[in-house]
Order: sequence, then structure tokens, then C-alpha cells
Amino acid sequence: QELELKLEMLEKGGFEHFMLKEIYEQPRSIKDCMRGRIYPSEGKVQLGGIKEFAEKLKNIDRIIIVACGTSWHAGLVGEYLIEEYARIPVEVEYASEFRYRNPIITEKDVVIAISQSGETADTMAAIEMAKERGATIFGICNVAGASIPRLTHAGVYTHAGPEIGVASTKAFTAQVTVLTLMAFYMAQQRGTITESKMIELLTELDHIPEKIQKALESDKLIKEVAEKIKDSRNCLFLGRGSGFPVALEGALKLKEISYIHAEGYPAAEMKHGPIALIDEEMPVVFIATQNSSYEKVISNIQEVKARKGKVIAIVTEGDTEVKKMADYCIEIPDANEAFLPLLATIPLQLLSYHIAVLRGCNIDQPRNLAKSVTVE
Ligand code: AGP
Repeated sequence: QELELKLEMLEKGGFEHFMLKEIYEQPRSIKDCMRGRIYPSEGKVQLGGIKEFAEKLKNIDRIIIVACGTSWHAGLVGEYLIEEYARIPVEVEYASEFRYRNPIITEKDVVIAISQSGETADTMAAIEMAKERGATIFGICNVAGASIPRLTHAGVYTHAGPEIGVASTKAFTAQVTVLTLMAFYMAQQRGTITESKMIELLTELDHIPEKIQKALESDKLIKEVAEKIKDSRNCLFLGRGSGFPVALEGALKLKEISYIHAEGYPAAEMKHGPIALIDEEMPVVFIATQNSSYEKVISNIQEVKARKGKVIAIVTEGDTEVKKMADYCIEIPDANEAFLPLLATIPLQLLSYHIAVLRGCNIDQPRNLAKSVTVE
């Protein structure tokens, strides 16, 4: 038994939990995910896994993304990126709902199935149905040789390495990275992006691992914030644009491992209902980085402060505006809006982790959950 314990310690690489180890692995896992796929100085993306479909991508009508849980959140980020850069309409579907509808699918549709484990039953069933109806199926998976990569026509692995913690962390950021690469690749094929823009974006993407490393340095501060809100019964996560899926993911992470009820919302939707929940007991986590929706988010923060909510804001390094209003600010490095989800997710992972540790929860194996959901 002592040997087993020692082995586990070794596997955790000095970290107390697999989840924490996996959070800290992200600068490396993102690098592995991009290796051999981006050529910043030439402004080129190469995705060997889907290259035989390069021609087809020029003429597709629509992309449907199917996934569950965290992978579905990655899909929502993908929607923003693919529509923005490749100008292809995207729909993001819960695999469990999609499979039981009678969706309209044609041969000009591409279905992208996202799954860390590659074994999720609902996602597999959705793929089978779309395949029968003639769609081309791409997979984005982490586990090589799993069932989903075998069911799809083509795909791109995330190469994040084994993820042991039930709460997905490094697999999520790797999925988002692959979707970013796919969006750029499709834009390149369809001529919806200039070479100089590609050079600029890829040069910045190449440095994202260092920025993630920087974001991890706020760990101590995040732990202090966790101390302050660990006894809350509810928590709201708000963001706009691609900050919205980040908010959803932050809320899922918190509920999964700390058992605090949490909800993610588009910040502008607050006034249509959730604002009624806000009082001095309610922590509200805002994705308030400096991008196109910055000013709008600031007015949403003011609305929460006016009702005495506790504001925790994820802000761009050097921010002064939000700092005047928020109770706690956690900085992330500045980056192009396209890469915001990769950075803003990091402090939210750490926040859930520390809250769950302080509450004495089982971090790597939360109650009632399994790492891969092979039943429907
Ligand atoms: C993530 O933290 C969850 N444990 C869960 O939502 C997970 O993302 C979902 O079950 C999908 O799994 P998959 O990516 O392996 O298909």
C-alpha cells in the first residue's frame, strides 16, 4: 500500500491533486497541441488529420458541433471563431438533444464531434445519426484510438496527454486550441483571411503558452479570493462574446467539484431574470477583459454593485476602470480577443480548485460523476 501511495505521488508530479497538476500543465499541453501545425512566419496552419477534406471545406454550407459538458463549451468558443474567421454558419448542439430530434442534415454539412474521452455515448449516437444522413464527420478527441476517432471520417487530436481529474481542464484548453486552428485553417482554405492577418494571429498564438504561464502566477491571489467566497451557496458567472462560454465553463467547474450552485449567463441577460438573485451574499464572477464588449461589461458590473453583490473580475493586466468597482480583480495578460478564452479560463479553474479544497471536497473524483460517460 505504501508503494501504491508513492506511485500516486509520483504520478501527480509533486502536486496535491491531478486536477492541479493538469491545470499547471497547460502551457505545455497547448504547445504540444500546436506543434507542427502552425507556421507563424508563413502565416500557415497545417492540419494533417483533415487535409484530405481541404477542398470540400471550400463549399460547405454549415458546421454543426456536437458535444457534452465542457466539450460543448469548447464548441461554443469554436462557433465564435469559425464564424468570425472562416465565415461559415455554425450551430452548437448538445449531443443528447441532437440525437433525439429529427435534425435537417445534408451532404454539405460538416459535423464536428468534440470529446476528451472519445467514448461519450450521446456524442457517439449523434455522430452515427449524422453519418447515416450523409454529413462529413470530424472529431476533436484527446484519447488516441478511442471509439469516436474510429467513428469519424477525419479528425484532429488535442494531444493534451492523459487527463485523470474528472473535472476537465487541460483538455478544454486543448480543444479550444484545436478549434482555433480549425477556424484559421478553414479561413485559409476559403480565402476569408489575409496572409498578413494570419501571420499576426499565429505569431500571437505561438506565445499564448507563455501568457498562460503568466496567468498561473495569480494562484496565490486566487486562493485568497477563494477563502472569501468559499461558504457561498450560489455563484454567478457572467461574460459576453466568447467570454460567455468561459463563464459557463467557470460555473460548471465550480458546481462539479465544490458542489456550490453556480450558473453561467451572458452578462446582458442578467436583467432578464438572474439580477433578482443578487444581494450581498452573492458572488458574481465577471469576465471583464479589455475587448469589444468591455464598456458593456462595466455597466453590468455597476448594476451588480448597485445591488451590493460581491464582484470578482477577471481583467486585463494594468486595468484601472474595473478595479475602481470590483471587490477583487484577477489579472490576465493582454491578448487578441480570439485568444481570450484560453487565458480567462485559467483563473476560473484555479478558483474552483481552491474553493473545493477549502470545502474539503474530493477534487479528482467528485461525487456522482465519472470521467467518461458511456451510458446515455
Ligand atoms: C467536465 O469537467 C465534465 N466532467 C464533463 O462535463 C465532460 O466534459 C463531459 O462528460 C464530456 O466528456 P467528453 O469530453 O469525454 O465527451
